[in-house]
Amino acid sequence: MKVTVHRKAHFNAAHRLYNADWTDARNAHVFGKCANPNYHGHNYELIVAVRGEIHPETGFVMDMKVLKHLIETEIEAVFDHKNLNEEVPVFKTLNPTAENIAVVIWNILRPHIEEVLELSVTLYETPRNFVSYSGA
Ligand code: NI
Repeated sequence: MKVTVHRKAHFNAAHRLYNADWTDARNAHVFGKCANPNYHGHNYELIVAVRGEIHPETGFVMDMKVLKHLIETEIEAVFDHKNLNEEVPVFKTLNPTAENIAVVIWNILRPHIEEVLELSVTLYETPRNFVSYSGA
């Protein structure tokens, strides 16, 4: 019997969507306002889901205090109130789309969570636009 536990988190960050191999015109055409050279911000909502068997001794799939702390130290501290393009090294060369941010978050968290547990990350860039990644 597997159960999924979810933890919600939040961070504000600025980004610019841009492909350095393209002309400004093509960037503007594909990314629209998100290609603005002066950046713009989003209120990102993050949901981290961990799925697995309930541990017989604790009754937990994963201790939510541990998951909360993990998200605070590994994600919020790194992303919150940051310019993703300029201040988060991975996005120097990776376009900080919601898709890529979700994959980066998953890759950061995965080694910190027991291998037997499944991990899924859902990231809302706006209340209506969100992406999810579960690895592979
Ligand atoms: Ni944007």
